[in-house]
Amino acid sequence: MKRLYDETLLTPLRVARNSKYLDWDAQPSQFKEYPAFLFRYAFDEVAALKVAQLSRCVTFLGEISSKPYYRLNLPSAGNLHPTELYLQIRGIRGVISGIYHVDAKNGCLVLIQEIDKEGLEPYVGLRHRFKGMLVVVSTVPFRSEWKYGRRAWRYCDLDAGHQAGSVLAAASATGQNVTILSGIDTEGLHQALGFGDEEYPVVALGIGEEGDREAGRLEHALMHVCPLDYSEGTRDASAYLLAPKISDAKGYRPEKIEEETILRRRSARRFSGEALSKEGADFVASLLQEVPEPLHAWQIWMHHPTLPDGIYRDGVCVDRGEYAKLVCRMLVDQYFIAEASAVVILTTDAFGPGALLGAGIFVQRVYMEAGQKGLGVTGIGAYYDLKLQQFLGTDEAILYVAAIGAV
Ligand SMILES: Cc1cc2nc3c(=O)[nH]c(=O)nc-3n(C[C@H](O)[C@H](O)[C@H](O)COP(=O)(O)O)c2cc1C
Repeated sequence: MKRLYDETLLTPLRVARNSKYLDWDAQPSQFKEYPAFLFRYAFDEVAALKVAQLSRCVTFLGEISSKPYYRLNLPSAGNLHPTELYLQIRGIRGVISGIYHVDAKNGCLVLIQEIDKEGLEPYVGLRHRFKGMLVVVSTVPFRSEWKYGRRAWRYCDLDAGHQAGSVLAAASATGQNVTILSGIDTEGLHQALGFGDEEYPVVALGIGEEGDREAGRLEHALMHVCPLDYSEGTRDASAYLLAPKISDAKGYRPEKIEEETILRRRSARRFSGEALSKEGADFVASLLQEVPEPLHAWQIWMHHPTLPDGIYRDGVCVDRGEYAKLVCRMLVDQYFIAEASAVVILTTDAFGPGALLGAGIFVQRVYMEAGQKGLGVTGIGAYYDLKLQQFLGTDEAILYVAAIGAV
């Protein structure tokens, strides 16, 4: 893992080398589209599919250089959205049991293959047929590598974490139980879902419950559909096949989330510079106390209503000081963050795909709960890793950063 951390570090030299002109006309396709002859349910056709819509949907459609510009209900590094989402539906009244692709662009679920005794259960660590929905999050690395090169490996797992967190929020909004399934068979799923070199499964969740009838493996893999209009290959395919280790920790689960919060979510593009109310600051501090192992949360308070500004770890001030400008420099000169109230830095001593995934899930929870309280949040993936480590005085790997504040 040390090798992957080092290869995907941002340093001033790497940032300078990568800051080339990007031809947005050459952006690879952002959405996978299954053939038109397949059966589809529109998101609003069946009430039980609401949870799919709230997990992944388009919430803004604009235009840039005469091309459509989509934003979704979940954030993504550079708005590139390398993630795709699949559902196995079994035993839900009024819905054909089968494996579906969630087609966010067209607002529908596409039935790829019907199921009976066989299904995805054996690939996600379940012996018995699962009544409800099995959710699989995949990643299409080239969509992100196209812009970010090797750094994209981290962004793909962070983005997949946001997608998993978005499923948790959607389940909360629709009042359903959901479990993060640990121990997926990444290679088995890769083959069963008909993926090629362009797409890899990352994480699975279950909404519903396991029954007592045995489930078999799929007799045939699903049809292969390329998720891209073109590709220049994936830089390190083996890195995408590492099965992320993730546990179903309580800290990943959001409180009751409203549908409106999901549909209105945006990343903050500016902060007001005002201090939070004491209640707001206490809320941020207590939310960060819930960060699950193996993640740790550092906070750089820049505008705290009552406590001294400075560096905090696990709620304890370890260094007082005014660090806003210095922190922005380490976040690759993103100076709008100086007006945020706090910068949260997630670190770990167990760097790998599972920790990155967990960081994405946790920050999605922060987006949801802070958003519900009217606070602004932005996930930050661009930072100089080694400089941040040195600043905090830690050997722990930096996983992800988030800015929170009044907007
Ligand atoms: C993994 C990840 C890394 C991100 N890094 C940054 C960043 O360094 N700076 C920034 O301003 N926004 C960052 N963002 C936010 C995205 O730019 C934002 O999600 C995207 O532009 C879409 O906008 P929306 O979140 O409002 O839908 C990041 C988001 C994710 C998920």
